[in-house]
Amino acid sequence: MGCQIRLLMLFGTLISFASVVLSKQGTSVYYARPYLPSACYGNRNQGIMIAGANPTLYNGGKVCGRRYKVRCLGGTNKTPHPCKSGEITVKVVDLCPGCGANEINLSQDAFSRIANLKAGRVRIDYIQYANLKFLVH
Ligand SMILES: *[C@@H]1O[C@H](CO)[C@@H](O)[C@H](O)[C@H]1NC(C)=O
Repeated sequence: MGCQIRLLMLFGTLISFASVVLSKQGTSVYYARPYLPSACYGNRNQGIMIAGANPTLYNGGKVCGRRYKVRCLGGTNKTPHPCKSGEITVKVVDLCPGCGANEINLSQDAFSRIANLKAGRVRIDYIQYANLKFLVH
């Protein structure tokens, strides 16, 4: 096997290892429109791929504007087929006071891309988008 190919494989392994280490597992719920106003941006529209952060993650607003990649890992109840494949990127625009530790409140538009709305609450993993970009570039 060529040296360049080996290096590429090593690099790929390191990237996936790093994203596994840096990503966090938690749960997600969702909220319906209208999405305004938000705790971070008031009535300024930030689109529909948005989320509310639990109080710890929100950290007094420091998390506002950060982007997270989110994947569905499984259900938290008996609803069949809780997850859809793929991942989404959402921007944190809000505080979710009722969210538990590592819980994220996704917009309904975001949640429905990765999960079955009927499932209500699903297990997720999430990673700050900038981390991933930093690792890849
Ligand atoms: C999710 O956000 C909506 C809108 O801000 C809120 O009404 C709802 O209570 C939140 N969910 C939880 C679990 O706190």
